[in-house]
Amino acid sequence: MKKTIVLKVNPQKPEKEKIRIAANFIRNGGLVAFPTETVYGLGADALNPKAVLDAFKAKRRPLDNPPIVHVADVKDVYKLAENVPSKAEKLMKELWPGPLTLVFKRSSIVPSVTVSGLGTIAIRMPRHEVALALIRESQCPIIGPSANLAGKPSPTSAEHVLEDLDGKIDAVLDAGPTYIGVESTVLDLTVNPPQVLRPGGTPFEVLKQFIKGVRLNPVAVADREVVVEKARSPGVKHKHYAPRADLVVVEGELPAVFNKVRELAETYTRKGKRVGVLATDETVADYGVGVVKSLGSRSDMASIAKNLFRLLREFDAEKVDVIVAEGIPMEGLGLAVMNRLRKASGYKIVKADEN
Ligand code: TXA
Ligand code: MG
Repeated sequence: MKKTIVLKVNPQKPEKEKIRIAANFIRNGGLVAFPTETVYGLGADALNPKAVLDAFKAKRRPLDNPPIVHVADVKDVYKLAENVPSKAEKLMKELWPGPLTLVFKRSSIVPSVTVSGLGTIAIRMPRHEVALALIRESQCPIIGPSANLAGKPSPTSAEHVLEDLDGKIDAVLDAGPTYIGVESTVLDLTVNPPQVLRPGGTPFEVLKQFIKGVRLNPVAVADREVVVEKARSPGVKHKHYAPRADLVVVEGELPAVFNKVRELAETYTRKGKRVGVLATDETVADYGVGVVKSLGSRSDMASIAKNLFRLLREFDAEKVDVIVAEGIPMEGLGLAVMNRLRKASGYKIVKADEN
């Protein structure tokens, strides 16, 4: 057990002394959780194999699922990647810093453990002053797998980080809740046309404006389990985002979804289960069964994304056995939210229809 230090920092103007303390841990091979605009990451020096291995261990993450490497300067991309296509240069110019991770061929300076032995590397520049200050002060690229135990919902606050990693890491920079709430979009630029491997904070609609022909890999849609050999995204074969409770997601048009969610919640309740209902502002008052929580308004996808992982953790804290979740439209950030819900459900997807 380590003593995990909590460093409260100003999210816009992080205090230099606190960043210095955190950066010292990173430089000495330690582990520091830090906020990004998406979720909290578990930071370690990406070029120090021992530190990277320690991060995998702290998270109990399988060694074959590589983390994202975070940079504060585009120059570092040219050191970490073997070649940087012009498409990437355009995206970095237009959309970085921001919730977009790009997959490149890796260079030889990258330790094998950092990329799980792959020939590729995932890199992003986060849009959060604390993350950028930490990377600059550490003077190295920093890995940032989400700072949760493997398989759990990603942390959107320092409290979530401590729930999972207190005593296992040196410090957490606590800058309050993250802004977006779902992880970055992962875009593979080593294939033609480029493919989204994980939908996230940069909506697909936005990507399409900047690169022609970009596709969604089936693992990004996540409407079914994809055979592992066929999965380009190394993380997909592992269970993800899952609360302790079982989760069922109901998809379709709103009135039908409401009826089906209520019917399922009533059925589980009759069977003696403690039921959680993941609702929206439009429906939250009308269920009258189970522990009901709202993700936010259906007209405000940003708040739905921001609340998702926190609510999944809250249901666990309330010890529900099963969560019945309303599906939402797969537009904008909705695609990332539905990807997380579908995976958390283990693909237990119920289609609600009018009849
Ligand atoms: O928003 C985010 O991306 C957060 C914050 C902390 O930056 N980080 C994050 O990291 O979500 P993690 O490790 O939980 O997710 C990394 C994702 C996984 O889906 C992994 O499979 C994929 O990136 N990935 C990493 N390296 C890859 C590679 N070489 N090729 C394809 N996918 C890769
Ligand atoms: Mg993760």
